[in-house]
Parts: sequence; structure tokens; C-alpha cells
Amino acid sequence: MSSADNARLQTHAPAWLGLLSELGRRVALPMGIPSQSKEAGKAHTKATIGQLTDDDGNPITLPSIAAHAPGDLGDTFKYAPLAGIQALREAWLDHQRDVAGVEVGGITLPMVTHGLTHGVALTRDLFVDDATHIVLPRPNWENYEHLYGLYSNPTFHFWDLFDDEGRLNLAGFDACLQDTADAPKRIVVLNFPHNPTGYSPTLDEAEALMARIAGSATPTVWLFDDAYQGVVFEDGVQPFSLFWEALSVVDHAHSLVCKVDGATKEFAFFAARVGFITFGAPEAAIPAIESKLLGLIRGHIGSPNGPSQTMLLQALRNLDEVREEQAAVLEQMRVRYERLKELLADIDSPELQVLPFNSGYFAVIRVHGVDADTLRKHLIDAYSVGTIALPDINGIRIAFCSTERLDEVVSALSAAMADLRVA
Ligand SMILES: Cc1ncc(COP(=O)(O)O)c(C=O)c1O
Repeated sequence: MSSADNARLQTHAPAWLGLLSELGRRVALPMGIPSQSKEAGKAHTKATIGQLTDDDGNPITLPSIAAHAPGDLGDTFKYAPLAGIQALREAWLDHQRDVAGVEVGGITLPMVTHGLTHGVALTRDLFVDDATHIVLPRPNWENYEHLYGLYSNPTFHFWDLFDDEGRLNLAGFDACLQDTADAPKRIVVLNFPHNPTGYSPTLDEAEALMARIAGSATPTVWLFDDAYQGVVFEDGVQPFSLFWEALSVVDHAHSLVCKVDGATKEFAFFAARVGFITFGAPEAAIPAIESKLLGLIRGHIGSPNGPSQTMLLQALRNLDEVREEQAAVLEQMRVRYERLKELLADIDSPELQVLPFNSGYFAVIRVHGVDADTLRKHLIDAYSVGTIALPDINGIRIAFCSTERLDEVVSALSAAMADLRVA
């Protein structure tokens, strides 16, 4: 089927063929068990899938497990569809559109992934090979380099997220785009609120980023990693995904936009492993894109997790209530955010440079004159405080999402720095 899918892309979304990896061009959903059992959907008797049911399609369960089912027994116990539960995919799209206040079309229905990591991995398998150039901010979520470099040797390019004045480094971003302008293809990752710095662009900066996307003539996958969507503490900061705006400004003749998001952080449902991947695409190209994604999902994880999809779907059906709960969590986080801001503003050490943060789960302090990993280890050994070292910028990341003891963290940081300075 891959040649039929590729022919469909050639006709309806030719940019894809220029961007796909060798694997991306080759992969398609095989005519295996999921496809054949889907075709048997309306059959009176189904002797298709290797799962236990009665003739009405009800699951045969072990009662001691069924007693803990989060919802509908069928959704909880039977294999979930490869693309995810249809009602959940629709509800997620409604939720995302609602958050962004948009009604736009021209996209695939979000497909369920095994967390956001799997969504990023799908973009790797579809697009990345030795000819791909990957543009990342520095610092960045460390897993991008691991993921994208796992099976091939793409070329990585980095732009420093902040300039010397501590503003979003648009000039650095421009330079990186310029350096890759002649690349045969590239992936540009935009992740806001940003891990690890906790920065989101101001509205002006967001507009400037969109102008770069609109002005790009290089075949590019613009990837929006929206893991922390909605966790924004300041006014005047981009409050929701930039995917929607990018969708309307990108030149679809050579490029595409992709959104990776999920329940992990947005719904504080870390263990669920429910993420979503969505592409900008013309209607007629969607079957080919879905065939490729399903072929990869079938090859990666077999099929997605059922019970946590069921739980998330129930939540999305009570969206008003969930929005209130999310707002309450945000307020709880805001208290920590404001306290951490105060504490960091009071640090009296020129060697500890606090990077701007206004959103997300983290704050980063650049360390001058001392190795950040040595500082991290000393914080554990001498003060029993755990943080994350960022070797590429010699920084320390504080995850204020996971502790309220921020006074302890910051005073330990200052003291540990003083210890190492004199040592
Ligand atoms: C920016 C970013 N993207 C993706 C992920 C992965 O999310 P998940 O746990 O759903 O795979 C994380 C997790 O920390 C993240 O910070």
C-alpha cells in the first residue's frame, strides 16, 4: 500500500514526499489483523481478533481486575483501535480547538500515541534520516537529541534560547534558520512553555516566530511540542499552542506543521501514556498519512493503552469540571512560581544567573565559575537537595512542579555555590 499512499501524497500533499525518510516512504499499515478485523466490523459473527469476548462483543474479564475498571468495560478491556478511541480523538480535538479559540480545519484527527515521547518518535521515523537537519533551542528537553539520533545521523543545529539581554534570541533563531536554509529538509522544534527554562514567548515574540515560519522557503517540519500547554503564569505571554497560527501561515507547498501534545502534563496524568499527534494536511491526503502513522504504531506498540484512554475520555466529557480542576492546579503552581521568583531575585551571587521564566514547570540558573554537575552532586551530598544539571549551558534546572520546599532548594543552592567557590 505504501506506493498507493505515496501516490496520494504526491497528488494532494507533495511536500510530504520531499520530507519523508526512507522508512517514512516505505511504511504503510499492513493488511494484517487490525485491518482485516475492521473490514469484518459489520459481520454477524466475528472470529477475528485474539481477545476474549462473547458474541455481543462484551469482554470476558477476570472479575478481580474488572472490579477496578475506570469505565466502560469494552473500552477498558478490549484492544483499543490502533489510532485510539474515536470519541477520545474527537474530544481531544474539540478541547484543543477550544483552548486556542479556533475552528480551523485542514488537519488530521489527533491520533493517540504512547505519551508525547512516542509522538516525537513518530516524527523521527517519518522524517529523519542522514539528510535531515534538526533545529533545536539550547537548552532543550534532552530526549530530542537521543530520540532523533537513535537510528540515523541527522545534523543538529542549536540556537541559544536567550540573547545577552535575556530576551528570546530571535537573531540566533534566524541565524540557525539561515544556516539550514539550503538543507534538503529539516525539522524545527518549538516547545513552549519550554523545558527546561520554563519560558514562553511574549505575544510579540510569538508573532515574530510566526513571521519566520511564513517566510521560510526550506522544506521543513515545524514541530510544536505542546507538553506544557496552559501552564502560563503571566499576562502578555502566549497562552496556547502556536500550531494553529503556524498552520495558517506555513507554505504547504514544501512544508508542514505537526502538533504533539497529550494528557501527561496538561491533565496531570503522567502515567497514562496518552499523547496525540496531529498534522496539518489537506483532506484528500489524510488516508495516506494515517496509513503511515498506523503502520508505525502497529510496529512500535501494537496498539495504544485502553484504560487510560477511557479515563481521559470521561474527563473530557466533563470539560467544565476539568477546566475548574486545572485552574485549581494552576493556582497551586502559581504560588510556587511566585515564591521561587522572589527567592531567585534575592540570590546574591553574580555566579548564579537566573534565566527568564514565566510558565511551565521549571526554572534554570546558569552557573559561572563552577561546573554545574559538580554543583548538582554537591547539592545532593551536602544538602540532600536533588536538581538536574544542564551540561550544554552549565546550568541547574529546578523543577518547582515537584516540590514546595523552594526556600530550602534556593538557600542550598546559594550555600553549595559558596562552598565550591572557596574550595
Ligand atoms: C518538552 C517535553 N516533550 C515531551 C515530553 C514527554 O512526555 P511524555 O512523558 O508524555 O512522553 C516531555 C516530558 O518531560 C517534555 O518535557
